[in-house]
Amino acid sequence: MTLLLQQALQFPGRLSALAPTGPEAILIRDWLWRPMYATALVTYVLVVGALLWAAFRRRSAPAEEGAPEGPKRRLGLGVGIATAVTTVVLFVFLVATMQVSRATTTGPGPNPIRIRVTGHQWWWEVEYRDARQDQWFTTANELHLPVGRPAELELVSPDVIHSFWAPNIHTKLDLIPGHENLMRFQADSAGVFRGQCAEFCGAQHGKMAFQVVAQPPDSFAAWESRQRQPAPEPADSLARRGRDVFMGGSCPLCHTVQGTGAGGRLGPDLTHLAGRRTIAAGTLPNTRGALAGWIVNPQGVKPGAKMPPNPLSPDDLQAILAYLETLK
Ligand code: CUA
Repeated sequence: MTLLLQQALQFPGRLSALAPTGPEAILIRDWLWRPMYATALVTYVLVVGALLWAAFRRRSAPAEEGAPEGPKRRLGLGVGIATAVTTVVLFVFLVATMQVSRATTTGPGPNPIRIRVTGHQWWWEVEYRDARQDQWFTTANELHLPVGRPAELELVSPDVIHSFWAPNIHTKLDLIPGHENLMRFQADSAGVFRGQCAEFCGAQHGKMAFQVVAQPPDSFAAWESRQRQPAPEPADSLARRGRDVFMGGSCPLCHTVQGTGAGGRLGPDLTHLAGRRTIAAGTLPNTRGALAGWIVNPQGVKPGAKMPPNPLSPDDLQAILAYLETLK
């Protein structure tokens, strides 16, 4: 609980259906969230009121043997009315849910940005699939979106069922092995929002978060063109030594750094790691200290994660950190 609270305070981005950023999330808030909340509130008040009334009445007028027929009939009528109202309310919500589902899953507007999101135990691979395949690029645990342009996410999973949930933009949608789900929406206001895996998927399900960064079109375009660049050649000798430690160790077996020999696909693409807000799927802030702790002992942070411990010498660790910080 304390850890969750710390995370909520530490990382930017709200996880809230009440602060929608586009038409889909607005429909969900206005036609499902608020009516359901109001109905639950009214029901709660009625039930507690009836309970208090019954308790109070019992004390002032104790029940007698052989109660007359009148009150019994009134009781039966009350139960009948309550059952009918409940049925009608549930039916109305059924229809509302179907209508909202239909309205929020119809085709994207023209020229959607296509992004393939792959849920892994326990992180998110995010691949931007432009019309031209040589323009594709991959990042992790951050979903950048241009404001005002429709987006279409292909949600897939190679291992177990995960659930993509960023309530500021849309509803929950599962990532299912062997099946591709499509999520269509648009972000209309800029902001940083939090997303979270919402389907239990193993030991570190709780530490499978991501960030949604909705940004104005020009700032998105700048981010996009930076992401397409390969990693820069490290400028200073410490970072160059760090690159050699990185390439000579086991890191390239799992991680890709575009423009180098590292092409592993098991873990997140690190080409622009330094530009991300968090590491380990929203588990830690992307600071030098957190990165050092994560590299040396990932199992202490996220037990069960695929990343093995790396008992580096202090000099090698400093060099690797210097190198990773050049991956902007
Ligand atoms: Cu992935 Cu829970």
